[in-house]
Amino acid sequence: MSQHHNGKRLAVFVSGSGSNLQALLDVERTDATWPGKLVLVVSDKPACYAIERAKQAEVRVFAASPKSFADKAAYERAILDALKSADVDWLVLAGYMRLIGPTLLSAYPDRIVNIHPSLLPAFPGAHAVRDALAAKATQTGVTVHLVDEGVDTGPVLEQVAVDINPDMTEEALLERIHHVEHELYPRVVRRLLVRD
Ligand code: GRF
Repeated sequence: MSQHHNGKRLAVFVSGSGSNLQALLDVERTDATWPGKLVLVVSDKPACYAIERAKQAEVRVFAASPKSFADKAAYERAILDALKSADVDWLVLAGYMRLIGPTLLSAYPDRIVNIHPSLLPAFPGAHAVRDALAAKATQTGVTVHLVDEGVDTGPVLEQVAVDINPDMTEEALLERIHHVEHELYPRVVRRLLVRD
């Protein structure tokens, strides 16, 4: 249990636009009671927009394509070195489009959290919003869960439902889901850090 503000050190993992990264950066900047410090952004996509956000906020970045390593274990060992040297306590996945392997899972047991745009176990995988629309679901949502070796499996921490209107476009649904995510993720991460 940390009595200090900014006690727990976070790494946020990204592959894309990084709007959830931004929500975490914003809460840290504006909320004096925030119990974490974002010390590293990790990306498998060296050109993604999330990295611009990290640089803007002057957060350290580890960005490398897994293709430049011999195999996934070597890639994750390089990430682990960066995590260790930044003294990271928690891994926060925010649009990181890659499965976490045994190297990182065993180094951070029950300390890796993910956000997914559906009410898991419904619609796992990379196209959850599109899949919910294609299935003509009347409701979808957002799930925050601990990460295990599966694709969007692992214990659910919290879920928020989002209604789907019959004539809703994918763009409109994505916008509503992002809105929910940007409130939900900082809230659940805060709870994890405070209880840690
Ligand atoms: C979010 O919808 C998240 O649920 C999913 O990937 C998306 C990332 O968006 N895992 P962003 O990069 O945070 O804007």
